[in-house]
Amino acid sequence: MSTGEDTREVAFPHFEYIGGELTCDGVSLRQVAAEFGTPCYVYSKNSLIEKYHEFDAVFSHFPHLPHLVCYSVKANSNRSVISTFVRAGSGLDVNSGGELYRALLAGGDAARIIFTGVGKTAEEIAYALEQRALFLKVESFEELDVIDAVARRMGVRAPVALRVNPDVDALTHPYISTGLAENKFGIPWDQALPAYEHAASLPNLEIVGVDMHIGSQITTVEPFVEAASRLAGLFEILTQKGIPISHIDLGGGLGISYDGSPSATASELAEALRPVIESLKATIVLEPGRYLTGNAGVLLTTVQYRKNTGAKQFLIVDAAMNDFLRPALYAAYHRIQPVMLGDHRGEEVVDVVGPVCESSDFIAKGRTLPRVERGEVLAVMSAGAYGFVMSSNYNSRPRAAEVLIEDGRAVCIRYRETYEDLVRREPT
Ligand code: LLP
Repeated sequence: MSTGEDTREVAFPHFEYIGGELTCDGVSLRQVAAEFGTPCYVYSKNSLIEKYHEFDAVFSHFPHLPHLVCYSVKANSNRSVISTFVRAGSGLDVNSGGELYRALLAGGDAARIIFTGVGKTAEEIAYALEQRALFLKVESFEELDVIDAVARRMGVRAPVALRVNPDVDALTHPYISTGLAENKFGIPWDQALPAYEHAASLPNLEIVGVDMHIGSQITTVEPFVEAASRLAGLFEILTQKGIPISHIDLGGGLGISYDGSPSATASELAEALRPVIESLKATIVLEPGRYLTGNAGVLLTTVQYRKNTGAKQFLIVDAAMNDFLRPALYAAYHRIQPVMLGDHRGEEVVDVVGPVCESSDFIAKGRTLPRVERGEVLAVMSAGAYGFVMSSNYNSRPRAAEVLIEDGRAVCIRYRETYEDLVRREPT
């Protein structure tokens, strides 16, 4: 991830210039901005569906290996987005009681919902059991005991998969790397067997799986292959020990290209995993998030001011770090394109910044862009994953609207917040 120069070509098949105007599946983004205002997230429903089918199809090529794709809701948890995946056939991976609530409201079938989380509360565990989620992933010895106790109280057996930490370097940004021994996630590799033995001794648990998730925005297949091989080894040992495992969950994490540099595809991932998983007798579970939604969305923002400080040319836009945190948090690179190509007067190097009172409030630094004027709309590309979901009300800024493009129409799927929304939960 870098703020870098905007030199590489990136293909966004669902976002094309038609007659000099950037469109999403044929719908003018200038018109979307005019109708719904900015900042505003826009998602292509066609792209979401295509990406799901692409991902699902490549794992259908293993004749004797059932699989279940569970869209990782945290990447984009708008109900319309979740229900798009549910209708396309996806299961769901949720990371909190709130995500489970959304998933169910969006039509998700609990029998295809898996519940993750390094710090589940007893209430969240009870909620997942009550709804009969497919399984809960367990991240510590102590959590095994808590789930067993909650299940006993409820008079049920809790289906669990132990998330093990395979201690593999995912070669990604340290903030989104999760499979190294130093990370808080999963049960340490050398404690995996004792954890399974402990789980097997608890009467209210039903062991159904092994699970891993090594990180996010992983652009090569090797870390997945290495980690999956370790998991496959564990699977064999558990089987020999008479602990039957019906699900092997390889997590999410497959990256996308933000800047045109190569990034492994789902098909490449499946092929690379083939020798490791082909002969396993279990259902393979996958939890893609970003791969399905990242390049399906953009953030529209309007230039408020041009400001030249002598040291720098700034474009001050109406989207800020509260709307879109990735650049501030990870120095993430997102391509920026003007919505109207127009008669731009050459190019310039700019910092694209927001109105929040922090110097880390930027969308791009030192970026070469066509010259744009006050009032023009820009599209921040690849904003469909970890965009709106990470937004906040910092600086008491109402959160942005979200719009879905479907069947050639722009449909508001989340209204822009109002000032009243900001204070709604505060007693007067
Ligand atoms: N499964 C588990 C257990 C996860 O923790 C995650 C993401 C996923 C699946 C989905 O990963 P994906 O396929 O989207 O990489 N906010 C960061 C990303 C954090 C990812 C957290 N876990 C970002 O903006 O890059």
